[in-house]
Amino acid sequence: MSSRTALITGASRGLGFAFATHLARTGWQLIIDARSASDLHVAAQALQDVADRTVIAIEGDVADPQHAAALVTAAEDLGDLDLLVNNASTLGPSPLPSLADYSIAALGRVYDVNVVAPLRLIQLALPALRRTRGTIVNVTSDAATEAYEGWGGYGSAKAALEQLSNVLAQEEPDVRVLWVDPGDMNTRMHQAAFPGEDISDRPLPEERIPGLASLLDGDAPSGRYTVNDLVVDATRETA
Ligand SMILES: NC(=O)c1ccc[n+]([C@@H]2O[C@H](COP(=O)([O-])OP(=O)(O)OC[C@H]3O[C@@H](n4cnc5c(N)ncnc54)[C@H](OP(=O)(O)O)[C@@H]3O)[C@@H](O)[C@H]2O)c1
Repeated sequence: MSSRTALITGASRGLGFAFATHLARTGWQLIIDARSASDLHVAAQALQDVADRTVIAIEGDVADPQHAAALVTAAEDLGDLDLLVNNASTLGPSPLPSLADYSIAALGRVYDVNVVAPLRLIQLALPALRRTRGTIVNVTSDAATEAYEGWGGYGSAKAALEQLSNVLAQEEPDVRVLWVDPGDMNTRMHQAAFPGEDISDRPLPEERIPGLASLLDGDAPSGRYTVNDLVVDATRETA
């Protein structure tokens, strides 16, 4: 019997790699991507070393329609698709500009990667996800709901991804749609948001995985979740 299959974007480092590592350890077959071929192949080898599972690594930009199609085709070739994780994202310009000074071209790229690309992948993956009654995880941010100065481009794109998820959940009763704020993490993206600052007090992405895993494995319905709350709930249950 074949194992479950997950497609997770932006899995060469950060949260995507940590989540992919958890999935590999728990028996999932993986399709992963990132733009840097060398980083991606190092990550794929590490994932393969974690567990003897199929890991298909396809380098490319999530905003490229041909690349998106190749990712979903790879999942279909493995049998079916049970989980799509839209994790790859761009912060946009660093240092973060105010909206008054935001380059419109740069904003277009932020929306392309953070909103249009996830929806394109969802559209391509939906036939398989309806068949398997699968799950979509769209990784968002507290910047989607809070008004932090400088975060207008990235934050409004994540807000669009959240509302897109919200409507999708209504339209697709056979697919579980989870939109998840992972909380601050010590990653390259977070460092780009705070250039020159020491961000070593932020949790590592690995620390976000128990919360994410409990959400995925549990029976929580479609909706918005924050990993910080999930971890608190898990602590209460065992207290
Ligand atoms: N870090 C935080 O504090 C924080 C807080 C809230 C939400 N988030 C969200 O968490 C998710 C993961 O962020 P992270 O902090 O783990 O970021 P990260 O460490 O910078 O990792 C991003 C990953 O995505 C890939 N990627 C970036 N742009 C891509 C593109 N256009 N096409 C394909 N792959 C791409 C990167 O590889 P390449 O560069 O080689 O493409 C890398 O594998 C994002 O959705 C982010 O918005 C992060």
